Amino acid sequence: MSNFKEINFQPAGQFEETRFEKNHNVIFESSSEASKIVAKEIATLIITKSNEDKKCVLGLATGSSPIKVYEELVRLHKEEGLSFANVITFNLDEYWPMRPDNIQSYHYFMHEHLFNHVDILPENIHIPNGTIKQEEVYQYCVDYELKIKEAGGLDFQLLGIGRTGHIGFNEPGSHYNSSTRSITLDHITREDASSSFLGLDNVPRKAITMGISTIKKAKRVVLLAWGETKAKVVQRTIEGDITSKVPATYLQNHQNATFVIDKAAASELTRIKTPWLVTSCVWTEELKKKAIFWLSNKVKKPILKLTDKDYNDKGMASLLVEEGNAYELNIKIFNSLQKTITGWPGGKPNADDSKRPERKFPERKRIIIFSPHPDDDVISMGGTFDRLVEQGHEVHLAYQTSGNIAVSDEDALRFAEVSKVLSPGSERIGTIINFLRNKKTNEIDTLDVRKLKGEIRKAESLGATRYMGVSDENVHFLNLPFYETGRVKKDNLSKIDIDIMCSIIEEVKPHQIYAAGDLADPHGTHKVCLDALFEALALLKTETYMKDCWVWLYRGAWFEWQPHEIEMAVPMSPDQVVKKRHAIFYHQSQKDKVMFQGNDTREFWVRAEDRNRSTAEKYRKLGMADYAAVEAFKRHYF
Ligand code: F6R
Repeated sequence: MSNFKEINFQPAGQFEETRFEKNHNVIFESSSEASKIVAKEIATLIITKSNEDKKCVLGLATGSSPIKVYEELVRLHKEEGLSFANVITFNLDEYWPMRPDNIQSYHYFMHEHLFNHVDILPENIHIPNGTIKQEEVYQYCVDYELKIKEAGGLDFQLLGIGRTGHIGFNEPGSHYNSSTRSITLDHITREDASSSFLGLDNVPRKAITMGISTIKKAKRVVLLAWGETKAKVVQRTIEGDITSKVPATYLQNHQNATFVIDKAAASELTRIKTPWLVTSCVWTEELKKKAIFWLSNKVKKPILKLTDKDYNDKGMASLLVEEGNAYELNIKIFNSLQKTITGWPGGKPNADDSKRPERKFPERKRIIIFSPHPDDDVISMGGTFDRLVEQGHEVHLAYQTSGNIAVSDEDALRFAEVSKVLSPGSERIGTIINFLRNKKTNEIDTLDVRKLKGEIRKAESLGATRYMGVSDENVHFLNLPFYETGRVKKDNLSKIDIDIMCSIIEEVKPHQIYAAGDLADPHGTHKVCLDALFEALALLKTETYMKDCWVWLYRGAWFEWQPHEIEMAVPMSPDQVVKKRHAIFYHQSQKDKVMFQGNDTREFWVRAEDRNRSTAEKYRKLGMADYAAVEAFKRHYF
């Protein structure tokens, strides 16, 4: 059997968090690294129990958070001989009503991600049954509890956390002593699930869930949380008081619970967000900026008006000790912020570029704008895109995925019916129309329907790029294969994806690359597209032409860089704001009733404008000029 390394967690109870934190937590650089360590802890437990000839009873969760843990457990089984023969599992929850063979069921999820790939005995798997009759649910839940007890209780419980603060499906209001039962899902939980159910109306209203007391009885609890969307609830859970409004806070009373979180999910914790308030800091340039922008916001004064007293009153005396006095420091930080602003994102010819974010040479740059979906380019950087074209650069667009799953069936049917008028005899179009008219809820589209949906998005992109003044031969549709599953769940990146990324970079030999550095889109596509770029850059970085290539990251429709992170800020005139809006309007399939709205009900163009206006406002409040809108970028060094 393999030799698992010591687990990297400090024991619960002896941790060094700040006075605000009421839960043991460990912050990791990435969710992949963290998931491997959690999987290792589970594997070690399974082996220890097996060596003692005992069963290992695991409480398991579904959702996006544990996927990589299961992936690693499967790898340990396949490559290192980890056996699940002594494992008994109890899943936290299941939608109700729900058939086990439905692809949205937790039953399906668990088999797809774990059970089908390991040697667990089928009779040792327990997942609440979503087909149980209403009048039998109560007794079923009592029996589920009994089964856990008979198995010897949970040795280990894996958890995710919902934006409502739920663990399992224990929604706000759940009682401390609750046991396995039927529960009505919170609206926010249903919204979060709506994209995998292809619409809110398809999400069940109820579920069967283990209770808080069931979870609390587990001997060990590990809660996973990844990404910025979880940052607020993680902060409330770890730093807030115990309350039924945030059921995960009940874990504060557990003797052996650890929150395993990534940097993004930890970003609202006091020691991460404002570390100078709770500990002595190593004052890096980025931290200085972060602290001073925070101070300016707190005391509502622009940077140049901050006084020694403001610094001292707000817990930043240590920075003054290091820097001397406020005035010098203010000027330094003010200048560095001002240097980020440029109306020449491709560099300004014939100008001193020492105080600008981009080089002036070569004057006419070759540029690739990578866009994960067919509309992220204009949503996230439409104004900058416009300037780059206007300023004479050779701009290429590379759409990484087809975005086909986000086109509604109604839209596709409309296009198919129009095509049928033009080619009345086409059997292919007839089959598409027939499929769409009779499509069952959640049925996976045929290849031809996916193709049609992809073509609709392609035509929209071309409409927008022509409007922005880019010729069609500079527009590249990469259709990365990892995306083409026809479902919300995508494949892992393969060599073919990376080869496609490499070949477009090799073909253009760009001086600038723009890409989505947005790690929090609902389905993770942006993150995968960014990983694909990073892998391509790693392969190509020794090429001579790459020495002259700078990479700028914009963020997608969900979050924006904060001022202390921004290295290039491109202001937009009111006219450019309108031009950008029109470019976004070309993406008609994503307007009005969007398939994957996420938890923000604003349309994409409204989100984009609000966001660009808000960045401009933040700059103004810090003491910069008053612009209508600003797009923001962070440089990536490779
Ligand atoms: C899943 C479950 C839920 C999820 C939570 C987070 O079995 O009980 O509590 O853990 O909703 O979901 P993800 O991981 O998808 O963000």
